[in-house]
Amino acid sequence: MTRVLGIETSCDETAAAVVDDGRVVRSSVVASQADLHARFGGVVPEVASRAHVELIDDVIEEALVEAGVALHELDAVAAVHGPGLAGALLVGVSAAKAIALATGRPYVGVHHHEAHVYAALLEEPGLEPPFVTLVVSGGHTLLIAMDDHGAYRVLGQTVDDAAGEAFDKVARFLGLGYPGGPAIDRVAIEGDPKAIPFPRPMLDDGYDFSFSGLKTAVVHYVRKHPEVATADVAASFQAAVVDVLAEKLQAAARDNGMRTVVLGGGVAANSALRNRMLEAAAVGDLEVVLPSRALCTDNAAMVAAVAAFRLAADGPTPLDAGVAPNLRLAERPSA
Ligand code: KG4
Ligand code: ZN
Repeated sequence: MTRVLGIETSCDETAAAVVDDGRVVRSSVVASQADLHARFGGVVPEVASRAHVELIDDVIEEALVEAGVALHELDAVAAVHGPGLAGALLVGVSAAKAIALATGRPYVGVHHHEAHVYAALLEEPGLEPPFVTLVVSGGHTLLIAMDDHGAYRVLGQTVDDAAGEAFDKVARFLGLGYPGGPAIDRVAIEGDPKAIPFPRPMLDDGYDFSFSGLKTAVVHYVRKHPEVATADVAASFQAAVVDVLAEKLQAAARDNGMRTVVLGGGVAANSALRNRMLEAAAVGDLEVVLPSRALCTDNAAMVAAVAAFRLAADGPTPLDAGVAPNLRLAERPSA
């Protein structure tokens, strides 16, 4: 059995979790800083780092107590070492290394997006690659063929804004506050997704995504039609994003001969996207794995999960490895 303490501090959530064998969650604690950043309309890096420093000890302590696990009962300590905000990443990585040193246990640095993929293995403990996975978050939109554990082929990504970034920017423009994804999700329930025919950028154009033009289209439309109902704008914008994400995900599965598709990242918590994928699963020869909403948005259970697999395959991460704010999948940060 491999019992891992996972730590996540790459953006504005301070999180710690204990997971057994990369599949069984014993505890998962997430302290969101969203309220701290809301008045600025987005994440302020310096504010995030300071808040992580203030919260990290208590969050780790709570994760251990909730799991009923003492430090000496851990087999490894993991933290996200990239990508993310440098000062924020450093807090989690330093905490993980300190515990690793004090306990003599291995330290494992993990990739944030790889962790988002492994959230699905916590939801469905029998899940094994190969599958196609869509990681949609505030910073990234990645369509990946996962052939095996640790073996990724990036099929497509955004050429401009990430999907979550588009949700956040449109929400800010509509005066719906931060974070924008959940706000648009809520408001869109009252609106008509067919009210406004927003563009579906790059729908038939390979596996890459583009959301910046869609955001501009929303701004132009609302300026031209100031009387339009916000709920209709939110629902129509959301429908356009969901169309593009769902179509490309299904095309990637078809083209790569894979029957299973897996979603991850904050935008995978979106109700319209989840419904759309469940409908696709109901009518087609497709198995769709949707982690619970709490496992889609940033958390540390996914970090501990992927760490168990990385430790078994690659061994520990050296303690002199730093953080890498722009880390690419399957890369390692240098010292
Ligand atoms: O994965 P995540 O928690 O953090 C990053 O790694 O970025 O994703 C955060 C992003 C934000 O842009 C947020 O607005 C979006 O996920 N998000 C949503 C929903 N919940 C969170 N977007 C659409 N619908 C949601 N329900
Ligand atoms: Zn994330």
